[in-house]
Amino acid sequence: MTTLSFTARKIDRIAEHKTPMLVVPMFEDHVLGEDLDRIDAQFGGALSQTLALGDFSAKPGSHVALAGNKSIHRVIMIGCGVAASFDTAAQHKFAETAATAMAKGKARDATLNLASLPVTSADLGTILEVFAKHVTMACYVYDATIAKPKETPVLKKVTVNAGAILSPAKTKGPLGVGQAIGEGTNLTRNLVNLPGNVCTPRYLSQQGRSLAKRYESIKTTVLGEKKMQELGMGSLLSVGHGSDQESQLIIMEYSGGKAKDAPYALVGKGITFDTGGISLKPGMKMDEMKFDMGGAGSVFGTLQAIADMKLPINVVGVIAAAENMPSGRATKPGDVVKSMSGKTIEILNTDAEGRLVLCDALTYVGRYKPREVVDIATLTGAIIVALGNLATGIFANDDDLANALLDAGNKSNDRGWQLPIWDDYQMQLDSRFADVANIGTGGAGSVTAACFLARFAEKYKWAHLDVAGSAFSSSPKGATGRPVPMLVEYLRARAGR
Ligand code: BES
Ligand code: MN
Ligand code: ZN
Repeated sequence: MTTLSFTARKIDRIAEHKTPMLVVPMFEDHVLGEDLDRIDAQFGGALSQTLALGDFSAKPGSHVALAGNKSIHRVIMIGCGVAASFDTAAQHKFAETAATAMAKGKARDATLNLASLPVTSADLGTILEVFAKHVTMACYVYDATIAKPKETPVLKKVTVNAGAILSPAKTKGPLGVGQAIGEGTNLTRNLVNLPGNVCTPRYLSQQGRSLAKRYESIKTTVLGEKKMQELGMGSLLSVGHGSDQESQLIIMEYSGGKAKDAPYALVGKGITFDTGGISLKPGMKMDEMKFDMGGAGSVFGTLQAIADMKLPINVVGVIAAAENMPSGRATKPGDVVKSMSGKTIEILNTDAEGRLVLCDALTYVGRYKPREVVDIATLTGAIIVALGNLATGIFANDDDLANALLDAGNKSNDRGWQLPIWDDYQMQLDSRFADVANIGTGGAGSVTAACFLARFAEKYKWAHLDVAGSAFSSSPKGATGRPVPMLVEYLRARAGR
């Protein structure tokens, strides 16, 4: 994948600018305006005639492409609605529509003219960020395991003119942030889309090492099964027992803050394939269980984005990677294992494996004395029943942290919704043969899963994101890259940026 390049430039006479594609905002109640009047005249009145015909409404979300001339090959008009109602939602819609039109077009170079937008410089900053994120995401293609890739986007270079609203120097920042978030999201999508025979626990370790190679600010350490045995991670290790792939604990330390600053921790579920183990899943749609490392994938994407943004905080990403397979050596229902915390666990269902790998990773991360810990996991089918694909499930033992994640989700349009982890649910996890059972007795499956994790996260402020619904979609089948935008926004707010 080639990277897009974004350039900020002040263009005084847009009608005299040469570009294969000029993208302009169009309001229902503005008749062209000075700049576009000139382009219109050059094009023999094509813009005004298109508007007069009434086919292009200029409503938010609409766009139309017009053939141009030798210096401006085409003009794309992006609908912005009525100028007086150009609020945050309409601004985001505009940025998204412009981005998609540019990425889907057949021009390598494109210019976005924002000089005439009726917005403040602060609003324009957000628009630029949303725009850069969406163009970057719209240019993503999965080709890792495809011999003959289908049509790929041709857009390479984007020039943005913010006129008098923002100087080129100030335009660059938001474009860079948007691109960093878009690229982080794309990295996550790519990893999560990879099939289970390619993306194994060891493959994820390689990804961690390659991040460390690419960023001086990231240091990666990998623990194999022997090391984890020594640490007493009997719960995590029990998940990979039936697999020929070695389980891995991948630790990535991002240092953007002062050496003594306590880090924020991200803990990802990295089940590279979930057959259910001896509690085997039905065959229908089992292929989708290659997405069961979505939480881990989002940790890689988030770390890459914040390293690109050089956020002035410390963050440690921990990934618990294993493959859940049935075999003669696999864990059986009723088996009791001992976790790193010392608590014993009765595994009543080997398909509730995510919490088994996460609990040991949560104990491990305690050694960093983290400020806050957020785990991300495709943990339960029940969260899809509750929230569908729109919202990520949020659980937390700290209200301030829950609110920070909710806010970050709203701001980045990668939304979450909070569910309870009341103590009253805990008794569902009582076991006669161990300190805790790995499944509840019935009902509120996502809540009891979170309650299980809560028992291993008592020493710090902790939140759990259940992304089984939001991390991938069944049609069209593929990874969404969520919740990278939410996580980056949360860390940004924590960094005061
Ligand atoms: N990885 C699954 C959860 C999942 C289901 C993710 C569907 C995405 C789509 C998880 O490991 C699992 O199997 N959970 C069980 C828990 C149950 C055994 C208590 C589930 O949700 O059925
Ligand atoms: Mn499972
Ligand atoms: Zn799973």
